[in-house]
Amino acid sequence: MTRETDTGGDRETGLVDPFGRRVEYVRLSVTDKCNLRCFYCLPEGFRGFEEPENWLRFDEIERVIAAFADLGVNRVRITGGEPLVRRGLSQLAARLAALPGIGDLSLSTNATLLQRHAGALREAGISRINVSLDSLRPERFKQITGGSLAPVLDGLMAAKAAGFAPIKINMLALRDINDDEFEAMVAFCLEHDFTLRFIETMPVGSTGRSASDHYLDLQTVRQRLERSFELLPGVMPGGGPARYLQVRGTDLRIGFITPISQHFCATCNRVRLAVDGTLYLCLGQDHRYPLRPLLRRGISDAGLRDAIVEALALKPERHEFRDKPGQVVRFMSMTGG
Ligand SMILES: C[S@@+](CC[C@H](N)C(=O)[O-])C[C@H]1O[C@@H](n2cnc3c(N)ncnc32)[C@H](O)[C@@H]1O
Ligand code: SF4
Repeated sequence: MTRETDTGGDRETGLVDPFGRRVEYVRLSVTDKCNLRCFYCLPEGFRGFEEPENWLRFDEIERVIAAFADLGVNRVRITGGEPLVRRGLSQLAARLAALPGIGDLSLSTNATLLQRHAGALREAGISRINVSLDSLRPERFKQITGGSLAPVLDGLMAAKAAGFAPIKINMLALRDINDDEFEAMVAFCLEHDFTLRFIETMPVGSTGRSASDHYLDLQTVRQRLERSFELLPGVMPGGGPARYLQVRGTDLRIGFITPISQHFCATCNRVRLAVDGTLYLCLGQDHRYPLRPLLRRGISDAGLRDAIVEALALKPERHEFRDKPGQVVRFMSMTGG
C-alpha cells in the first residue's frame, strides 16, 4: 500500500533531507533507563530519567513508526537505554513487525535480560540482534559496566538458540581498558559464529567526553589484528556505517565503525526517536523536533507525516565531534547510539 500524503512524501519518493540523503531507518529508543552503567554512557548514580507520563505509549510509538513507514522507512532498530527493561517489549515488537512497509526489525541490547526474552522476541518478528560486549573478563566487564558478565553470555547463547541471525557483537575499542582483548574477542566470535564490530568512542554527554581519554583510532585496531589474522575485504548485507573485513578461511566478518577517524555522515540514512517522542536528527548535534505534543493534541495521520517531513528539513549535514566535542550534552542512553 502506498499512501499519498499532503506533502508529496510517500513510500516511493521517500524522505529526503536537504543534503539529498534518503532516510529509511529509524532508531527507536523505548526507554532511557538502563540496568548497567557503562562508564562512557551513563554516570553512576544518575537519576534524571524521563518521567513515565512522558514516555510514548505503545500505541503512540506504533503511530509514529506507521507514519515513517508511509514515508518510505523500512528498517527499525529498537534500542534504549536498555530496551529489555521496558515492560512488554515483545508485544511492541510484534506490533511494529506487523506494520506494512517495515521489512527489517532489529534490536540493540546489553543482553543482561536476553535469556528470559530471546524466544518471545524472535517470535515477535525481530530477526537481527546487536549485543554490546566490551570485555570477556568478568572483573573488567564489571569495571566497565558495573554489572555481571555471566547473564550477558547466557543471553547471547539463548539468542543463538532462538535462531537470531546475524548476532553482532559491538565492542568499543578503549585504550588502556580493553585493548589487550581484541584477539580474544575475535576468537570468541569465531567460536560462536557471531559478527564482530569495533566502535570508536564518541564524546556524547559528559561521560562520553571523559571516555575520550581512552579513544582509539580503529586503524590501530585493524593493524593489530592484521598481525594475527589474514583480513580480506568483506561485505555484510545491510551493514550500515561499518566497513567490513573477513578473516580468511572463516565466515567471520569484522566491522569497523569509525565516527571519529573517518566519519560517514555523507551516507547517513537515519533518524532517532527518543522515549519522550523527540525526534533527533543527528547523533552528534542537538537538532530535534518534538512529536509527543502533536500526538497528544490528536494530530491526524496526514498531519503526523507532514510533521516528520518538516523535521527532516532540520537534519544537519554532519556531526562535529572533532571540532566541537562539547556540544552534545545528552547521554547516549537517550538516543540509543
Ligand atoms: C546506548 S546503547 C543502547 C542499547 C543497549 N543498552 C546496548 O548497550 O547495546 C547503544 C550503543 O551505544 C554505544 N555507546 C554508548 N556510549 C557510547 C559512546 N560514548 N561512544 C560510542 N558508543 C557508545 C554502546 O556501546 C552500545 O553499543
Ligand atoms: S551502553 Fe547500553 S548497556 Fe551500557 S549504560 Fe548505555 S544504555 Fe546501558
